[in-house]
Amino acid sequence: MYFPILRLRRLRMKDNFRKMRRETRLSSSNLIYPVFIQDGRGKKVEVSSMPGIYRYTVDKVEEEIEKAMEAGIPAIILFGIPDEKDSQATQAWVEDGIIQRGVRYIKDRYPDLIIITDVCLCEYTNHGHCGIVKDGKILNDETLEIIKKIALSQVEAGADMVAPSGMMDGAVGAIREVLDEYNYEDIPIMAYAAKYASSFYGPFRDAAESAPAFGDRRSYQMDPANIREAMMEIELDIQEGADIVMVKPAMPYLDVIREVRNRFDYPLAAYQVSGEYSMIKAAAKLGWLDEKRAMWEATLAIKRAGADLILTYFAIELSKMIKEGWNEA
Ligand code: PBG
Repeated sequence: MYFPILRLRRLRMKDNFRKMRRETRLSSSNLIYPVFIQDGRGKKVEVSSMPGIYRYTVDKVEEEIEKAMEAGIPAIILFGIPDEKDSQATQAWVEDGIIQRGVRYIKDRYPDLIIITDVCLCEYTNHGHCGIVKDGKILNDETLEIIKKIALSQVEAGADMVAPSGMMDGAVGAIREVLDEYNYEDIPIMAYAAKYASSFYGPFRDAAESAPAFGDRRSYQMDPANIREAMMEIELDIQEGADIVMVKPAMPYLDVIREVRNRFDYPLAAYQVSGEYSMIKAAAKLGWLDEKRAMWEATLAIKRAGADLILTYFAIELSKMIKEGWNEA
């Protein structure tokens, strides 16, 4: 059937037709909000490259959690910034580490909120790498031992789900093994499975003070040119026991999201990363983009590409827009 019999504009003519025909909608139930907590007391510091995003000391974080709860966001992912960093990422797994204290504090007050913890070394190492370093090299298997300690300590503190983000081979399997050994077989793992060595993490590294002191992350994060390799990463993480797999960043990798969706029936998350957030915020500030429409469209694209869950710094703003009826606008 062709023009003039078929006219695609027919279903675009009226608001109610457009709504009826709409294929994708955003829901707050699928959003995960990243929250930064830092050591110390009484502080709330805006991240300079991420307007509207703050780092909180544990005693101040309630304000942000309240906002997320009010917005109807079911889950947060916590990142910690410790005062002390060392070569072994000790503050990532000690019982009174920033994340462990933060998880206990939040879980106590908001038992129904899903708390996901990021399992990585880079915020806790003095060199900023996601692994143990020896002679300028990032060691995989030595790092797994630390990763196990971090995940276990976070779950012991009350985390509902752990999310390894360091791109070490075997991390998911190592975490599954240690959690099962300690009877945490019901705690799911969300694997940062296809995580690219991306320039879009820049603002996050500001926020988390986690920029590598030497070199870059290309010996463990993926080459932006590759998609078949991403399918291998996803497959391996599923075999190792990942419950949710993730593609990160999101917008520059929509093809990867779509490909994973077509090939695997596992729950799929996508991380709309700091740079994706800051780009829109910056352009809007300059008056070059309509902020709300741009953030809506960017996030909708991630869902349309096939992501079930979206980690996004826009979560609270988007939830408000969802409530205001943007899905039906
Ligand atoms: C830690 C980690 C990073 C992000 C999430 N977990 C940074 C990195 O790999 O350098 C990035 C998130 C963002 O940019 O919003 N490994």
